[in-house]
Amino acid sequence: MDLRPIGIFDSGLGGLTVVKSVFDILPGESIVYFGDTGRVPYGTRSRETIIKYSAQDVNFLLTKDVKGIIIACGTASSVALEHVKGQTDVPIIGVVKATARAAALATKNKKVAVIGTSGTINSGSYEREIKKADPDIKVFPKACPLFVPLVENGYAKSEAAHLVAKDYLLPLKNEGVDTIILGCTHYPLLKDIISDIMGDDTVLVDSGGPVALEFKKMLMQKDMLNFGGGKPTHEYYVSDDVESFSYLGSLFLESEILHQVKRIDIDKY
Ligand code: DGL
Repeated sequence: MDLRPIGIFDSGLGGLTVVKSVFDILPGESIVYFGDTGRVPYGTRSRETIIKYSAQDVNFLLTKDVKGIIIACGTASSVALEHVKGQTDVPIIGVVKATARAAALATKNKKVAVIGTSGTINSGSYEREIKKADPDIKVFPKACPLFVPLVENGYAKSEAAHLVAKDYLLPLKNEGVDTIILGCTHYPLLKDIISDIMGDDTVLVDSGGPVALEFKKMLMQKDMLNFGGGKPTHEYYVSDDVESFSYLGSLFLESEILHQVKRIDIDKY
């Protein structure tokens, strides 16, 4: 048993969708979360910048003596996973592989859409992993760059978000996909709208459950699972305004996190 916390990072709020699943699937674990709110979005940036930011995020989490790291960001997982793995012996997993496998299992007509940031879609990461799981699946990728700013600014349930989503998603619906991967961890916050447009028959696959399960399996294999070593602690760090993150984060996690959020200078790492 290893009592140290799990490190989790994202460019902002989106990774909290993974945190929520970690709370459900790994309830005994403490977590340290970093949301790079001062530099969000990652998804429109160059490969070099995404790698640099991700490396700093990992360096910061390592100062918190984490036992493993979940990259709760589709973009950083797609672009920087291999690079940051080379930074440390602490195990690091991204969201892509587990999520792609879950979608490959879910589809019946073998037509799977992937929505994500431009960085994720341009990397081809999901398509590669889906094809590894089942080469017969036809993949329909679509970048949705306006979704992250809508979520980060508290517009996840707005009419504006609905209009934008319609524009992005109707072509995918017309292709007849029966499964859609929410390939950016911000997108589960738009789940109601996405589901409304795609219809009840389309399966929405997000990263939280699959990646938390994969991480649990890894902890068990390494004998690192915390199954009841005291009350778990939850710490949150951001690189910009504490209040707005706390407000939206508390709403999403359905528990008040204001006093657990601190601001750091990520440029120091
Ligand atoms: N939540 C992120 C992702 O999964 C980051 C989005 C962004 O910063 O552009 O891709």
